Amino acid sequence: MDTKARILQLKKEKNAAVLAHYYVPDEVQEIADYIGDSFYLSKVATEIPAKVIVFCGVSFMGESAKILNPDKVVLMPDETADCPMAHMADEKKIKLVRSQYEDVAVVCYINSTAELKVHADVCVTSANAVKIVKALPNKEIYFIPDGNLGRYVASQVPEKKFIFNDGFCPIHHKLTVQAVKDAKEKYPEAEFLVHPECQTDILELADYIGSTSGIIDYATASERKEFIIGTEKGVLYELKKKNPDKMFYPVHDKMICEDMKKVTIDKVLKTLENMDHKVSVTDEVRRKANHSLNRMLELGSR
Ligand code: 13P
Ligand code: SF4
Repeated sequence: MDTKARILQLKKEKNAAVLAHYYVPDEVQEIADYIGDSFYLSKVATEIPAKVIVFCGVSFMGESAKILNPDKVVLMPDETADCPMAHMADEKKIKLVRSQYEDVAVVCYINSTAELKVHADVCVTSANAVKIVKALPNKEIYFIPDGNLGRYVASQVPEKKFIFNDGFCPIHHKLTVQAVKDAKEKYPEAEFLVHPECQTDILELADYIGSTSGIIDYATASERKEFIIGTEKGVLYELKKKNPDKMFYPVHDKMICEDMKKVTIDKVLKTLENMDHKVSVTDEVRRKANHSLNRMLELGSR
């Protein structure tokens, strides 16, 4: 029996669902039951009846799914797939900021470790950060860990004061203005769609700024035929699937998240066969981090 057929069989046998982020390899997106951005996947994990979740993504995603669903088994096909940005903030600085600003809300991008979420007032994803920050009663916002996303949100919510952190996504942060200008010159008819993890000078060149789902929805609804894509190359799979008559050009070939690419279908099969690589979170961390994640789900769906 081939790998795909065996995965299908095991999913049925074990009452398992495969969740995949848009950045994992095409072959994994192909066998997934649910594909989406970070917000969609964390929401869908709480809504599906499956007892076992195979999370095809990086560790903060599996961890969030486990925190939100303590009774489900969450498996990670590759336990070493991690997001470097998830570690780029620290508890000491959070405590310092809290002592300096009376009315501050610590807003934590979901791309963060569970230990960081413990110290947050609310989590956000790139799809709902603006909406949630606007809805908070606080006038001061400490945005962790992503400085670029924090600055983008601040530009959309000028009535609040922001304190920024210096974390960044190594893949989005290294996109240069020159690379975007070169792509625009090469494809003059194309619109430039970009993820808000990129730096401000890149966002200034964009026709649309949004999460991976936002980018896919924008391109799908658009009358235009050509798009330059300023995010991880994995989104091209869904973009092409939904829009076979449109052209998509990655801004350059280096926007690849090596951690997301560690997830292969062979590893999906192995983790389902062996029921190993289970995500575990201590009760205390789970309880505290659950608060900020649930607040996101609540404020995000209003
Ligand atoms: P999304 O919020 O669009 O899923 O992005 C997640 C991510 O890791 C971007 O680098
Ligand atoms: Fe983290 Fe960047 Fe990879 Fe997203 S693309 S998982 S932010 S390293």
